[in-house]
Amino acid sequence: MDILEIIKGRRSIRKYKSDPVPEEALRTVLEAVRWSPSWANTQCWEIVVVKDPKVKSELAETLPKGNPAVSSMMNAPVVLVLCGIKGLSGYYKGQASTEKGDWLMFDLGMATQNLCLAAHGLGLGTVVIGMFDHRKVAEILKTPQNLEVMAMTPLGYPATPGRAPKRKEVTSFVSYERFRR
Ligand SMILES: Cc1cc2nc3c(=O)[nH]c(=O)nc-3n(C[C@H](O)[C@H](O)[C@H](O)COP(=O)(O)O)c2cc1C
Repeated sequence: MDILEIIKGRRSIRKYKSDPVPEEALRTVLEAVRWSPSWANTQCWEIVVVKDPKVKSELAETLPKGNPAVSSMMNAPVVLVLCGIKGLSGYYKGQASTEKGDWLMFDLGMATQNLCLAAHGLGLGTVVIGMFDHRKVAEILKTPQNLEVMAMTPLGYPATPGRAPKRKEVTSFVSYERFRR
């Protein structure tokens, strides 16, 4: 597949079949994370793979009721929880290199996109979930203090194809030489 075709064809999937994700496919998706760019190659990501229905249901309960991805957390066979190690990305000898502080969220964003695209390339669906109680998820998964729980995504075969929300035109967000507005 052409790269733009893969990028444009990836959709947030909120309805999944119960078919299991083959181990080989899961490995490929995690390999895509491995090859993501990161600040000075710090690779601050940590991923928790959750298949146990009890744990998935505990995680699903951390989403507010109105989050459209609540049921996706239960009906997908796998949930991936993306975490970042704090104080690595954007730091040099323990000091923040820029006024932005920790670049963890940026690196996790890149890794997450790689994950979602690799999954899509294999016919698997994902939906990035950011709106949940991060502290509760850290408690459920028993993550250490130096980890920041950032996002989750169900992983599985789409039961229905997602619909593409409209995009802004390129001309509406690109300036040349100087910012134009
Ligand atoms: C950082 C981030 C957080 C998101 N959080 C949620 C969420 O909590 N629940 C949800 O249903 N979708 C969530 N989404 C999915 C977006 O709604 C979706 O990507 C957007 O509407 C564009 O649709 P598409 O992914 O199909 O292109 C999130 C996406 C991103 C990038």
